[in-house]
Amino acid sequence: MILQGKRILLIISGGIAAYKSLDLIRRLRERGASVRPVMTAGAQAFVTPLAVGALAADKVFTELFSREDEQDVGHIRLARDCDLILIAPATADLMAKMANGHADDLASTILLATDRPVLIAPAMNPKMWTHPATRRNHATLFSDGIHFVGPASGEMAESGEKGEGRMAEPLDIVAAVEALLDTGDKPLAGKKAIVTSGPTHEPIDPVRYIANRSSGKQGHAIATELARLGAAVTLVSGPVTIPDPKGVKTIHVERAEEMRDAVLANLPADIAVMVAAVADWRVASAAGNKIKKQPGEAPPPLILAENPDILKTIGHHAKRPKLVVGFAAETQNVAENGRSKLERKGADYIIANDVSPETGIMGGDRNRVKIIGKAGDEDWPDMDKQAVAEKIARLIASHFA
Ligand code: CTP
Repeated sequence: MILQGKRILLIISGGIAAYKSLDLIRRLRERGASVRPVMTAGAQAFVTPLAVGALAADKVFTELFSREDEQDVGHIRLARDCDLILIAPATADLMAKMANGHADDLASTILLATDRPVLIAPAMNPKMWTHPATRRNHATLFSDGIHFVGPASGEMAESGEKGEGRMAEPLDIVAAVEALLDTGDKPLAGKKAIVTSGPTHEPIDPVRYIANRSSGKQGHAIATELARLGAAVTLVSGPVTIPDPKGVKTIHVERAEEMRDAVLANLPADIAVMVAAVADWRVASAAGNKIKKQPGEAPPPLILAENPDILKTIGHHAKRPKLVVGFAAETQNVAENGRSKLERKGADYIIANDVSPETGIMGGDRNRVKIIGKAGDEDWPDMDKQAVAEKIARLIASHFA
């Protein structure tokens, strides 16, 4: 059974779709999962805790300040003692609470206290789903790393209105649960990986710095995928605005020299994937105080010094990881420049991409890469960065098979 032994905390919030949660519980349990239900006050207006508890074969939790429940399990343990939190149906109101960090009932408190993956199956009237407030909350939750399934399009049960807002069907929700819990193989179990990601910031003075347009999306996605294949991953990230990936140890740094130190401190490792857009130069002597304009004087010159090349250091290190992968950000002669980086930096693969502004790759969600290996080149089609990450992780895993 594909979900054998998986513990799912199911939060049911108020909506007519709550009746489908009964079927959902049955489907999850059929696949071997245990389901621990939490119901909001609104949910209990649509289905009874008795019916939910009977199908789940577990106690139904409803109160934040229930002495009996708190002694029994407690909201912190409810939030942590599970493999996944599933919210089905998720109302617009519960999404708003989550997006803003409210904790005024049991469900919202659990959601604020958890460190587990959270999957949401929204269900609401199409006008509520497309309302700017819900759009905003959806974007916030998405960037907080919350996963979504649905909503689907169709006719609303209560009003007959058409549009997006119906809760996804129970079997589609089950499929999303399976994908997230990933019961798949772990070919990198027991392997240690170091990944760098994001830009570096090189200070000019305490308030100014040199930077680049890297978002960290590709590096973070690779760290996530290596972890999903079972590797113990340390991610050394420059300053980015995306969240730390789940299931990965993340070290935050600013400057190239700090990034190098963090990478070296984490050797030995089996795998190194250097995705960061490390600044090639730093300001030779950054000012300790803010540089002021001096009336009548010329602008201050910026004297640059070369930064350490982290990939090259790793590629030629006495403790060189078995597999070293670098990236090459190019705007011209992608193949030739990539191959010369492979040799110069001592890498096993260079993932080369064309970062000319018209490609939209730097900072964007999609990527088109050329894999340059010792045995030859391979062009991958345009894909989202997540898909590129999956393929790179699989390629890496094939070396340890
Ligand atoms: N890299 C690194 N340390 C640096 C510069 C680059 O570790 N100081 C790594 C990057 O993480 C990437 C690879 O080297 O994996 C190539 O980066 P790229 O910016 O394309 O190459 P550069 O060496 O900076 O060469 P150039 O700017 O001349 O193209």
